[in-house]
Amino acid sequence: MQPKFKKNYYRNLLTWKELVALINIRPLMTDDRVKIAQVKHHEWTNGVWTLDPNCYPPLLLKEIIQNNICHLRDMSRCSRKVNDLAKRLEEEYNGSVDAHIYICRNPSLRHPFEMHFDSYDNVIIQCEGRTNFKVWDVDKTTSREKGMNVHLTKRKDPPIMDVDMRPGDAIWIPKYYPHLATSKNARMSISFPVEENAPRQPREWIEL
Ligand SMILES: [Fe+2]
Repeated sequence: MQPKFKKNYYRNLLTWKELVALINIRPLMTDDRVKIAQVKHHEWTNGVWTLDPNCYPPLLLKEIIQNNICHLRDMSRCSRKVNDLAKRLEEEYNGSVDAHIYICRNPSLRHPFEMHFDSYDNVIIQCEGRTNFKVWDVDKTTSREKGMNVHLTKRKDPPIMDVDMRPGDAIWIPKYYPHLATSKNARMSISFPVEENAPRQPREWIEL
């Protein structure tokens, strides 16, 4: 993968309205799927009929989404469009692809990842709002054994890409390329990480 940016790559991949429908499916909102940078201890009472005790109740989930930059993992089958795009990327990059839905409802929040690189290639599609992405040339000095998400602070050279992403725009960020995302307003984007040569889930879509 090479770093690149394309305007209007995929319009209407996921709208706020579609996201709202997803986050109201209580059994989907597990504490594993909803990722928050600062995990706090929460407790709640579950209804007698609910099967999955580890799902956030609605008002707590709303509070979390409004006051944190958070993302939802394992969402590559959240819609046919997202599933089909994941399939396309899996074939193109010969790997297993997930979809992480990043949500920021308050642009004054600092991105919890700051400048960092990842150990997998990433394709990011802007769905709603605007996000500034800066990408620096590949990092050759930091140990790559540290894990998936390596925080950096010392790059002083100018970024090789500095783009304001609007709905439909896409950016390709190869592994080990430092990047920084800054929300310009309430925004949602979907990040498709590629795990090379890893087992993939079936991409058939059920039609009845
Ligand atoms: Fe990243």
